Amino acid sequence: MKVLSCTSNIKLSNNIAKNLKLKLVNTTIKNFADGEIYIEINENIRGNSIFVIQSISHPANDNLMELLICIDALKRSSAKNITAVIPYFGYARQDRKVVPRTSISAKLVSNLIMNAGAHRVVTVDLHAGQIQGFFDIPVDNLFTTPIFARHIKKNINLKNIICVSPDIGGVERARALGKRLNAGLAIIDKRRPAPGKSEVMNIIGDVENKSCIITDDIIDSGGTIVNAAKALKNKGAKEVYVYITHAVLSGSAVDKIKNSSIKKLIVTDSIDNSQKIKNTSKIEVLSISTLMSEAIKRISNSTSVSSLFK
Ligand code: R5P
Repeated sequence: MKVLSCTSNIKLSNNIAKNLKLKLVNTTIKNFADGEIYIEINENIRGNSIFVIQSISHPANDNLMELLICIDALKRSSAKNITAVIPYFGYARQDRKVVPRTSISAKLVSNLIMNAGAHRVVTVDLHAGQIQGFFDIPVDNLFTTPIFARHIKKNINLKNIICVSPDIGGVERARALGKRLNAGLAIIDKRRPAPGKSEVMNIIGDVENKSCIITDDIIDSGGTIVNAAKALKNKGAKEVYVYITHAVLSGSAVDKIKNSSIKKLIVTDSIDNSQKIKNTSKIEVLSISTLMSEAIKRISNSTSVSSLFK
C-alpha cells in the first residue's frame, strides 16, 4: 500500500501518511507556462495499491484536473489498484436538475474519476448519499458525526440541547448527531430564491431556551448558517453552536461568522483553511486525519469500514 498526495491539502495528507507510518510517494506536480498540469511519479509503484489524496476544493477545476491527471499517471505506471481519497467532494451540490437545461455536474465528475482509472473512492460526508450511485465502483462515504459528538460531549452542557438541520436536505445528518447525543431535532425550512442566496421561512420544533447545535455538510458563503442562527435566536434559542464538515468559506464568509450571533463554528480540515481562519477564535478546526487513515488501513486490509461508525 502506498499513499500519494496532490496539492490541495498537503497538511492533511502528511498527517494521514504519518498515522499510517508511511512516506508520501515522491511525486512531481507542476504547471507548464500555459497552466497545463504535469505530474510525474518519481518512484516505482508497479503492482502497488495506491491511495491518492485530493480535495476538490478551491480552485475546484484545477484541483479536479490534478486528481484526474494523477490517477491517469498511476494507471499508466501499472498501479495494481487506485483509490481516490477525496476528503471534500466538490461539485456534489449539482446532483440533480433543479431547473431545466442545467448539467448534473456531480454525475459528470463521477464519470471523469472512473474513466481516469480509479477503482474505488473514499470521501467524507457526501452532500447527498445517492451520489455513491453515480459511480460503478465502490464508494466509502465516511461520517464526521462521531468526531462532532465527541467534541460536543466534551465542550457543551448536554442539558437542554437540540440538534438543528439548517434545511430539509440535512435532516438525516442532524438526526444522526441527535441520536448520539440523546437530543431532540429541529428543522429549518430554508428557501433559495436564487443560487447563493438563502431565506429562512419557518422553524419546525421548539428551540426556546435551548442550546442549538446546527449541523451541515458545507459552509460556503455562510448565508445559510448565519440566517439560521438569527432565526433561532429570534425564536428564543439560548445559544447557537455550528458543526460543519466542509469549510468552503468563500468570499466574506469568515467575517459574516465573526459578526454573527453564532457562539462557535466547528469545522474539519477536509479543506485547508489555515490562512483564512488564522485570526479567528470563533472558528475551531477538528482533524479528520485519524478517521481517514483508519479507513484507508481497513480498506487495505479488507476489513469493515462501517464498523468505524458503530
Ligand atoms: C446545501 O444544501 C448545503 O448543504 C449547504 O447548506 C450550503 O451549501 C451552504 O451554503 P452557504 O453557506 O453559501 O449558504
